[in-house]
Amino acid sequence: MRKNLVHISGRLVPENEAKISIFDSAVMLGDTVTESTRTFLHKPFKLEEHIERLYKSLKVVRNDIGYGKEEMLRISLEVLNTNLEEYGASEDCWLVHNISRGISIAGSDPTSTSNEATVMIFVQPMDLRSWAPFYIDGCHAVTPMSRAIPSQSMDARIKNRSRMAYTLAEAEVKLIDPHAQSVILDIYGNVSENKGGNVFVVTGGVLKTPTTGNCLAGITRETTLQLAKKLGITAEETILQPYDLATADEVFFTSTPYCIMPATRFNGITIGDGRVGPVTKKLMAAWSDLVGLDIIEQARNQLKD
Ligand SMILES: Cc1ncc(COP(=O)(O)O)c(C=O)c1O
Repeated sequence: MRKNLVHISGRLVPENEAKISIFDSAVMLGDTVTESTRTFLHKPFKLEEHIERLYKSLKVVRNDIGYGKEEMLRISLEVLNTNLEEYGASEDCWLVHNISRGISIAGSDPTSTSNEATVMIFVQPMDLRSWAPFYIDGCHAVTPMSRAIPSQSMDARIKNRSRMAYTLAEAEVKLIDPHAQSVILDIYGNVSENKGGNVFVVTGGVLKTPTTGNCLAGITRETTLQLAKKLGITAEETILQPYDLATADEVFFTSTPYCIMPATRFNGITIGDGRVGPVTKKLMAAWSDLVGLDIIEQARNQLKD
């Protein structure tokens, strides 16, 4: 059994000793910003960028936790390195940050709390089994009935734990196909994102993805755009509609755990020739080169365990 030490508001404690109040604004209001970083070969990938995004989210939601990015980096590395000692060489992990406003005081002001922010940082094994088959076969991308929360209500760039809308969307696509992955549309019918990833298409050799006007500014999205540039693949941030996915040559999702997840069907329609396409494969190979391990092999090896 791993000791699994977690950080909770200034203390490093075993997981079963980390308790939050049932009145915490995380529970009462879903008032939590979050980050999920992963390791490759035990090294955190773009942790500074994740912390940068975390502090932007904190700023926009007006939650001042009393210390800055450097201290957050130090604490994060402490949690990570302490726990990594117990991970095998071929195992990787998530490093997750959840920060709420603290213990909520019921009344007219939902931002009033009786204590400081609740800072929760923990690691979990990088379990890739549910995505592993999609590297080879591609997944079925499906649009749910529910639409994305408009950025006019909550900017999609705030990475938060108010996940009800994403959960409902994902539940809806599972009614169509139990293995479907959501492509959530915004209120105008434009493609926004997946419950935990960004969406890309390849059409006529050009890579396209929605602007961050209606989706999270994913770190994997940004890295994929950087890799495309290096590979000489033309890329555009633009408006995409369901038609563009149905008629694309290739479609894939990007997210921290899996990097790239190809899709070979969209709402029951075969995408391109129904196989994972050449641009997607090139980008997956570039990801493997960048992080120093074969991302497909790592995920597929977990299916053998
Ligand atoms: C709603 C949403 N979109 C996109 C992403 C992908 O972001 P990243 O590449 O930074 O993991 C996530 C990640 O969890 C997400 O929650």
